[in-house]
Amino acid sequence: MTEVTRRGFVAGAGVAVAGSWLGWSGAQSAWAETGLPPDEDGSRLWLRYPEVDDAALRTTYRELFRYVVDPGDAVVLGSAAAELTDGLSGLLGQEVPLRGEVDGDGAVVVRVDEAVAGPEGFTIRRGEAGGAAAMIITGSDERGALYGAFHLLRLLQSHKAVDRVDVTDRPRNPLRLANHWDNLDRSVERGYAGNSVFHWDELPQTRPSYEVYARALASVGINGTVINNVNANAQFISPAMLAKIAPLAGVLRAWGISTYFSLNFASPMILGGLATADPFDTGVKDWWRDKITEIYDVIPDLGGFLVKADSEGQPGPISYGRTHADGANLIADAVKPHGGIVMWRAFVHDFNALEWSNKAYETFKPLDGKFADNAVVQIKNGPIDFQVREPAHPLFGALPNTNAMMELQITQEYTGQSTHLCYLVPMWQEVYGFDTHADGAGTTVSKIISGETYGRELGGVAGVMNFGDDADWTRHQLAAANTHGHGRLAWNPGLKARDIADEWTRQTYGNDSRLVTKINQLLLGSWQTYLDYTNPLGVSFLIKGDHFTPSPQTNTGWHQADAEGTGFDRTVATGNGYTGFYHRPVSTRYESVEDCPDELLLFLHHVPYGHRLRSGKTVIQHVYDSHFDGAVEVRAMRETWQGLRRRIDAKRWADTAERFDRHLEQATLWRDAIAGHYFVTSRILDERRSWVQVTPTATSAIRLVGGQENLVRLSVANASPGEAELVAGQTPRDGWTSGTAGIVLPSRGDGTLDVPVTPSLAPQVATLRPTLRAGQLTALIAEQPVITAPSGDQCLIAIDAGTANSPVLAGYRRLSPADRWADGAAYGWVGSVPQSRDRNIPDPLLRDFVNDTTARTLRFAIPAGAHTLYLLVGDVHDSFPTTVKIDGQVAAKSGFLLGGSFEWLTIEVDGGGSGRTADLELSTVPGQHWHLNGIVILS
Ligand code: GCU
Repeated sequence: MTEVTRRGFVAGAGVAVAGSWLGWSGAQSAWAETGLPPDEDGSRLWLRYPEVDDAALRTTYRELFRYVVDPGDAVVLGSAAAELTDGLSGLLGQEVPLRGEVDGDGAVVVRVDEAVAGPEGFTIRRGEAGGAAAMIITGSDERGALYGAFHLLRLLQSHKAVDRVDVTDRPRNPLRLANHWDNLDRSVERGYAGNSVFHWDELPQTRPSYEVYARALASVGINGTVINNVNANAQFISPAMLAKIAPLAGVLRAWGISTYFSLNFASPMILGGLATADPFDTGVKDWWRDKITEIYDVIPDLGGFLVKADSEGQPGPISYGRTHADGANLIADAVKPHGGIVMWRAFVHDFNALEWSNKAYETFKPLDGKFADNAVVQIKNGPIDFQVREPAHPLFGALPNTNAMMELQITQEYTGQSTHLCYLVPMWQEVYGFDTHADGAGTTVSKIISGETYGRELGGVAGVMNFGDDADWTRHQLAAANTHGHGRLAWNPGLKARDIADEWTRQTYGNDSRLVTKINQLLLGSWQTYLDYTNPLGVSFLIKGDHFTPSPQTNTGWHQADAEGTGFDRTVATGNGYTGFYHRPVSTRYESVEDCPDELLLFLHHVPYGHRLRSGKTVIQHVYDSHFDGAVEVRAMRETWQGLRRRIDAKRWADTAERFDRHLEQATLWRDAIAGHYFVTSRILDERRSWVQVTPTATSAIRLVGGQENLVRLSVANASPGEAELVAGQTPRDGWTSGTAGIVLPSRGDGTLDVPVTPSLAPQVATLRPTLRAGQLTALIAEQPVITAPSGDQCLIAIDAGTANSPVLAGYRRLSPADRWADGAAYGWVGSVPQSRDRNIPDPLLRDFVNDTTARTLRFAIPAGAHTLYLLVGDVHDSFPTTVKIDGQVAAKSGFLLGGSFEWLTIEVDGGGSGRTADLELSTVPGQHWHLNGIVILS
């Protein structure tokens, strides 16, 4: 008998935590001492295997599972066996070794038998192996066996009896994917848990965390991952990157996960130097054929490619007079000999509220039947963009002759990011279950994308990932339930949300029944709660460019709230015709204001505020009630979590308690912004509550002068039935002073107040939070982002960068591309000069900047002594990180900045006894622009 050394797993994104049973048993004695489970950091996600604390159950398990039989050389089977030895050892509190052959009762066998359960399926049964009693996991293929192993462990983690286990299961969707929107600089588009989980810079060196990642995905049946952003950098498929990624693909492969790339459609031009990317051009076809062959030489089992084309500025076939099908087929043909596929995204729109819901349907429906067999159209769950409530995308019912798959968003771009708890499984389940009636009643989205309805082999679902390099992967630890839930639903959309939540909770936090009940309640109610305080009856896009902050006043095109009513008319009779894209009876139900489901009313119809819902409430009263109730629900959620303090290890409890504190703050801001906006637009009083409200008059960031008094203008209104005396001020901030201003308003009246504010001198980016008092009345408050800049006379040097003739802030000196360095100058460009832009907004400092796609160098005379150099970067459009090197060393780097946001970079410099010059090199990621708006040194 051979004892094979068990593979030790090391868990954690960067934090090494032994996942072995020895680690667990040591930790458990600490529990006895403190009365609390030992601290964890969340890095093990739901793959935790602590010793089963029910002694009777543990004894039964110990009898059933004595050792795992080594399945031999097959790599994925080997992973299954390794996970079993590790997991069982932890759960049983004694080593469950890997043995070379059957050696008495209590064997665990993992094996493959094609006939067993359908592709990637498995059975788990008790039986006999080599004359001994065994638990036998049989996969139809290696992946199936791996999924069976994880299934068995899941049962044990949930303390289920398994002596009579008899499971047969298989995935319903062929493609069950993760999509990463990860960039080459490791920033993550719409990522809220740090940088990319993939350290491109270190590859081909891999990290232990890649294995944790792969195990997590495999444990819920994910079988592929697209590793880079759909807004794709062509460099990902350069030879240098391919060589780096090959070992990562190897780690994933061992866990049954195929690697995929997002492609940039213009790669033949960017990488190949061709003059065109026209899909009909022979040179372009040859280029793709050769490139894809080269990729498969390095990663022979690559799954294929994902393409975002002719969408939000990405290159595509349309500019060459070709269709999306032409574009998709170009890649499909090139990848076909290698057995790969292309997923072609249907997310196309014109950035305008009127057309957005219609564009994808109108673009793709006429192309039905024109896509190659190995192409699949990837359709977002709804017609807009991952809003918290949308109807199911009408394209699902419109492509009977095309492979189709669904794209969901696990990362909570519009659903609270990593701050609000919003468990999305119930929402996804609604979409899966939506009956399109495309092929008669019962043609659900689920049956279409699985391939069942139209007998197609290719189809499935992708989820845009929420993982980052934070130790706990998701920053809000309860958000990992979404990652888990995506996989489980992709496996079987028929599973109940309640069961999926329950299984995750038990795996993540254990089996204490009160704890499980409470966490399940938190998860399962959270989507409805989020809807309550953010989303009046299906209205979308009430949000700022950060897709986090409420902003109803800037998105009037979406909610169309005016003095009489609100909602977006998408009917055929009087609106943009969208309801006509559905099959009957959905189209007639959606078209009719009486029959339309309340929760989609304002997505589909414009109605007067007095319109009555099925509940008997008017629309306006519903908006008020749901927003106030929603914030109350969040307070209760926070209390529920507080009540779990003694039932979870201190660290994980505290991490999530902090999230709930922020969640409550944000839910209150949402309540105030939406209820307040609907009040000022409708002037209808709430029947149940009275309040006063304050909103900034500016919708984007304003600039204040540091160290001086500014008057900040606020809008105030009285939503109470009587006259009210209002006094507005600012929440105190360190080093800032502020005064107050007052006004008397009649019921339903409004006005403006100028509140004096003196920021501290040093430049900063801040958020002002007004205060409002009016007797006992509740105050609704909206915040105001500000940028402060000192006045020029408080500075040793103050520079406003921009074009040669755009306005310069009073007291500041101009820096434009025209300023070349000359001896004795204060500053000037050396080498090539940069570009410059003027965006024509009113503020002289923020409106313009110098910029370029290549690095440029500004020579700068640092005065004698030690100083802090402040550099302002940003733009009204989104901007990539600006990196500043001083004398060759990176001295500062901004974050990715959303349109309208700015950042002050600080660099400590020393001019010595008599001053010196320093070279500031400004740069960013390839193909993007760095920005510089101003430079300041205080006196
Ligand atoms: C949203 C998101 C973008 C993303 C796009 C897409 O619009 O905000 O960051 O690139 O969807 O799915 O392509």
